[in-house]
Amino acid sequence: MTAAVLGIIGGSGIYDLPELENARDETIASPWGEPSALVRRGTIAGLPVVFLPRHDKGHRLSPSDINYRANIDVLKRAGVTDLVSLSACGSFKEELPPGTFVMVDQFVDRTHRREGSFFGKGCVAHVSMANPVSPKLRTHLCAAADSESIAAARSGTYLCIEGPQFLSYAESMTYKALGYDIIGMTNMPEAKLAREAEICYASAAMVTDFDCWHPDHGTVTAQEVVRVQAANVGKARRLILRLARDFPREHEPCPIGSDRALDLALMTAPEA
Ligand code: ADE
Repeated sequence: MTAAVLGIIGGSGIYDLPELENARDETIASPWGEPSALVRRGTIAGLPVVFLPRHDKGHRLSPSDINYRANIDVLKRAGVTDLVSLSACGSFKEELPPGTFVMVDQFVDRTHRREGSFFGKGCVAHVSMANPVSPKLRTHLCAAADSESIAAARSGTYLCIEGPQFLSYAESMTYKALGYDIIGMTNMPEAKLAREAEICYASAAMVTDFDCWHPDHGTVTAQEVVRVQAANVGKARRLILRLARDFPREHEPCPIGSDRALDLALMTAPEA
């Protein structure tokens, strides 16, 4: 049996996790460079939990400047088996208004200037991203939201853009017409790297705005994202507290094999 260790990556507005008991910062070296911050390890209701603020305290790092490889690597080294991403997002759907949580099940990656793999020259691997989210972990997130009466969509497609600028009106209308549900700047390549690291990954994206497509709402501003996200943060904390309390103490094998993703992925012969 493998003991479960829950990892939490905090996004905009979530720079610490006061619910962590016996918390201490840990320096974990990574060959991939500097992670966003020191990892903070503790327990919630007896469950080992490791927290990392994606943008660092004070929101020092823009989405393009985050070292996603170092972040996932240090979480792996910290023993994380199951990783939950928290992040702010815009919405392309009337029925997903600000304040709604979306438990993402699919991603579209439109980022273009981020290191997106641990593999490459000398060691080639192709992991499956057909189902980028671990279904059991997403189910636990949905159950925690239900228990806390947090309005949450049980699935949704998250479009990840490079940013840091928000979309133009034409882009917003195009992506909306394509049927995507929400938009953010940080869940990719994070989800891909978690898969390569064989960590189960799920994302609770918190809607702060309607981007700029909605005829009855103004265009999104950073100020508005910060204002609405402040209200989302309390709910996010309740979500994580409930998730940790109810989380299985033993890591549950992932039904789609996220935790064994490299079994079928390596192309380079070990002796090559
Ligand atoms: N994060 C929050 N709202 C967003 C939006 N409209 N576009 C991209 N990232 C966001």
